[in-house]
Amino acid sequence: MIDRRDFLKTGTLAGAALLLKPSRALAATADATIEILLDEPLGTISPLIYGHFTEELGAVIYDGVWVGENSKIANTQGIRTALVEKMRQIKAPAVRWPGGCFADSYDWRDGVGPRDKRPKRTDFWVDDPDSKITPKLGPMNYDPNQFGTDDFVRFCKLCGAQPYLAANVRSLPAYSFDQWVEYCNSPAGSTTYALMRAANGGTAEPYNVKYWGVGNESWGCGGTFTPDEYAAEYRRYTAWIPDYGVGLELIASGPNQDDVAWTQGFFENIFGKRKINPPFGWSMHYYTDLQKALDYQSTDVYPGYSLADRMEKIIHDHWTTMGVFDREHTVKLIVDEYGPWYRFSDTKLDPTHVLGQQLTVRDAVMTALTLDIFNRNPEKVAMAACAQLINCIDSLFLSHEDHFITTPIFNVFDMYKDHMGGESVRVEFAAPVITYPRVQLKKELSPVGDESVSPEETTPEAHLWGLNGSASRIGKTLTLTVVNPHLTEARETQIVVRGATASSASAMVLGGEDVHIHNTFAEPENVKTKTATASVNGSAVSFTFPPSSVVKLTIALS
Ligand code: AHR
Repeated sequence: MIDRRDFLKTGTLAGAALLLKPSRALAATADATIEILLDEPLGTISPLIYGHFTEELGAVIYDGVWVGENSKIANTQGIRTALVEKMRQIKAPAVRWPGGCFADSYDWRDGVGPRDKRPKRTDFWVDDPDSKITPKLGPMNYDPNQFGTDDFVRFCKLCGAQPYLAANVRSLPAYSFDQWVEYCNSPAGSTTYALMRAANGGTAEPYNVKYWGVGNESWGCGGTFTPDEYAAEYRRYTAWIPDYGVGLELIASGPNQDDVAWTQGFFENIFGKRKINPPFGWSMHYYTDLQKALDYQSTDVYPGYSLADRMEKIIHDHWTTMGVFDREHTVKLIVDEYGPWYRFSDTKLDPTHVLGQQLTVRDAVMTALTLDIFNRNPEKVAMAACAQLINCIDSLFLSHEDHFITTPIFNVFDMYKDHMGGESVRVEFAAPVITYPRVQLKKELSPVGDESVSPEETTPEAHLWGLNGSASRIGKTLTLTVVNPHLTEARETQIVVRGATASSASAMVLGGEDVHIHNTFAEPENVKTKTATASVNGSAVSFTFPPSSVVKLTIALS
């Protein structure tokens, strides 16, 4: 039985929750309703929001992407073939490299040329506590540079993805950035770098790398600049970069989570004081900081979901701040690092996997609700990268030597790929709200000193929406993705499509069981998506969303 007070309607802005009573007709038959408003388009979902991130960190590259040309593990010129196949399956649109913090310590010249001549360098992460406890020295401490620009571009090409390179602003001169662009993009035979590219096992034809990050986290590991100092660097690094007709899309180093002062300072400088061509994108990083990846209580789950759900408010706050200076909103948000990060639990599958962690259905729920947020804000978010692709934080894959498995995060990307390039439409969700003790939220936050719980949030209870998601349309196919975060309750739901008739519907379900479920090398298929039946009656579809689930409904419109 649903109490009126417990019924939450979630609109396009998750934070603006409204208590609603379900209509009498629907209340008699369903726990919840979803209304899809086809006549209220929000914009086209950029395929690039389904992007990935591979940093030279721990086992992301070495043991993850790169196994080496002479390895017994199936590889394509040194790149793990099983990974490439899975990347093609999810239609990976873009991959970011070489960092992350590593980017501002990296000289791209170290990673090109004959492999046996490449220098070994100290990795940015060498002093990380996780790096220090590795049983032996390896590529996670000292980077052998066996994987460089040509290998990364080849990896992207094999996957069918666009390369997104992050340039070093903290420790290399601006001219090195120009030269990296020249190495990648100058026409066949035109420059010494173009000749080197061909001779190095790359291609005579240019790589035409379009997406370039200008530093990474320049407020922190990328230089500890002030916004004005970084704006000055940004001007210097981008004042002259050869374009070679590629149409470079430059991405400036944006804020850490909700730091709008960084956004304001940069935009005020770039748009106010001697205006320059604004960047294509404003990078933003938001990790959901949590404690235990596997050994968590059910009471820890909702606080984690609420933290992940903050992404939408953070996006809105930066967007509004950007709009004060960039009135036409020419600059888009690039959320190129996000995901749940368990900073206090050791669940990595091998000790060499710096920042490695296990991923459960709980993480799939958080990743799915994040992708739904991007889908609901297509005019704001132009690109994103899940951090990181393999063996690190919110990984889609875990590998060690010849072991290679997918995680539930992979299942989410596989389900959500149908949104790529679709027209996002407004959806209204009405479902019983989840109430949990606020103390749990504070408990999740306290170890990492996150002060983002505002002082006025002192009520004993916290709330989370009961159902949420996103919908997009491509021609006569409507894709609806929905998260049911409730740990034990299914939601029998009436889905109404306004503006068209639903002729058939099919469903894919991830979860529905214990949220702790995850894959291991010994049990690689604990987590699977299942098909399910959705019944259709005119413009309404009925479906029961299992507890702790991520669901994709594919609805044929007539
Ligand atoms: O993804 C791990 C690290 O988190 C990245 O290197 C950095 O950009 C962020 O702080």
